[in-house]
Amino acid sequence: MKKISWVFSLLVATLMTIEVSLATDRVGNFALLDHQGNYHQLRKYGDSKALVIISTAASCIENIEKLPKYRLLRTTWERQGISFLAINSSSKDDLESVRQMDMLHNVDLPILMDSSQLVAESLSLSKAGEIIVLEPKSFAVLYRGGLDIDPRRARPDRNITEVKGTSFLTDILAAAVAGELDSADATIETPAVGCDLAFPMLDKHAMSTPDYATEVAPILEEKCVTCHIEGGIAPFAMDSHMMVQGWSPMMKEVIMTKRMPPAQVDPSINHFTNARYMEPNELQTLVHWIDAGAPRGDGEVDPLTRINKSETLWELGEPDYVVEVPAFAVPATGVLDYENVTINLPFKQDVWVKSVQHIPGDRKVLHHLLSYIVPGDYEERIVEGENDSYREFLEGYAPGKDEAVSYPDDAGMFIPSGSAVQMSLHYTTFGKETVDRTRLGLYFAEEKPKFQYSTYSLSHGGRNIVIPPGEKEHKMSASHVFEDEIMLHGLRPHMHYRGKHMRMSVVYPDGSKDDIINVPDYNFAWQPTYRLSEPMLLPAGSRVMVEGAFDNSHYNLGNPDPDAEVRGGAQSWDEMFIGYFSYHKTEVN
Ligand code: HEC
Repeated sequence: MKKISWVFSLLVATLMTIEVSLATDRVGNFALLDHQGNYHQLRKYGDSKALVIISTAASCIENIEKLPKYRLLRTTWERQGISFLAINSSSKDDLESVRQMDMLHNVDLPILMDSSQLVAESLSLSKAGEIIVLEPKSFAVLYRGGLDIDPRRARPDRNITEVKGTSFLTDILAAAVAGELDSADATIETPAVGCDLAFPMLDKHAMSTPDYATEVAPILEEKCVTCHIEGGIAPFAMDSHMMVQGWSPMMKEVIMTKRMPPAQVDPSINHFTNARYMEPNELQTLVHWIDAGAPRGDGEVDPLTRINKSETLWELGEPDYVVEVPAFAVPATGVLDYENVTINLPFKQDVWVKSVQHIPGDRKVLHHLLSYIVPGDYEERIVEGENDSYREFLEGYAPGKDEAVSYPDDAGMFIPSGSAVQMSLHYTTFGKETVDRTRLGLYFAEEKPKFQYSTYSLSHGGRNIVIPPGEKEHKMSASHVFEDEIMLHGLRPHMHYRGKHMRMSVVYPDGSKDDIINVPDYNFAWQPTYRLSEPMLLPAGSRVMVEGAFDNSHYNLGNPDPDAEVRGGAQSWDEMFIGYFSYHKTEVN
């Protein structure tokens, strides 16, 4: 397909003096991270008069020479309401080389990292150096081609008699600024010069479509089926080829916009055992298979029909104590706010907990939960809106992660006698009434552990939060110094419906800085505690920082009311800005 449109644009280029009539083409919505880990989604550029996407390649000299011209183009048009993005889709470049290019040549544009090349394919890009101008509401392609065009600009086919700008590109931008795009009923195409982009995976998959049974199903099984299973929280089960084929156009859409799988983080910063990464070749396999019509292939057995519904059992044997959460009746429909319950623990002495496991009562409705240890008289002690220092985070449950969790070696949770478990449960409805009876199993440590595991909540003082209506990027930050040396194990960003993105980083006592985690597209519905595969040692005196932003505009699909001024508070429609750091001190108890 790619080849055809490439040949087609060449043809158009050579036949430019002959009458050609072209229809406007359209592209699909997509989302990518840029070279600094910021999330960009096409749909969110709807306020721009036009969006210019410049295809770059760090490995292409011709492209490097053009960079100053792109910068000039941007400085000329940006303040008139046109947005600019670069996109690096070359199979030869990696993140490091793209960052180098930015540093050495001051590209000064967000450079989208299209390492799977799927966005280049959907935009029909064929060269580095090609420029695409989009109408950001309809995703119509207004212009496709190069930066510089012969100033004589012979285009008898378009009856252009007067030279308006310096190129067709600038004509289009001028029309966009003037709000005169209605007349653009066709995509203007001009030749682009630059290095050809190679599409090795597309070529490979064009030769032989990815096989459903041996290539596609294993990816779905690993990345999707934990939730998309009968009795799971997702709206449909991927339990046969037929089912997946039926949903495949929608699957492509959620993959291209990074909506699914949920809880993806920036893959260039650390590695987390429970973040749901998608590798470029997995994305290519799924999307190319879907584009080919999601065929069943020759495999005799359909692997997805063989997956058993998982039954959760106490993995570590009968717990030392089971906390029974009071039955909760979940209605058939509607959106439920968080359900908070406090359950007293009968322990006459202090105990140390080594492992815990949550067993959901009904996986269809229990979206996730968070458990905390609190003092028995917690309700009397808290002051609403103030930083809550009485709660100690115990563990959370989220679909696909319902196995027993043990605290790091030599560490445990301390539960003083007289404590209670507080649980915050998030339920979703699925069309039928049901009753959830969730249980929490506690396993005690035989000996007092060397380290006490705990979670620090670093927040921006709740009551000070004021987010104006419609604000797209309301920034916020907070920092804290750990006075002792700590071993950092887990992180959880927490905001409410307006949360947009959050990063955590550390400034060491010697002034050097490290990134800890970047959640580029925060979603209130998905806030796991991300567990570091390799814990980080932070020396005494390290300052941790949390930086993020809220989106109170209509571009945030989770926003219940873009016209409201939002303030800090405990309800989901109020806001919070908290980074949770789970760690233990390295000094022995
Ligand atoms: C952790 C659980 C989880 C995983 C893993 C997961 N999904 Fe989902 N999926 C959901 C839930 C919950 C919904 C419904 C709510 C929503 O759309 O956010 C959903 C919705 C969808 C929808 C329907 C969207 C709509 O608007 O109707 C599609 C399609 C989908 N998922 C595809 C996938 C694919 C493909 C994967 C794997 C690459 C995947 N999901 C992995 C939980 C999950």
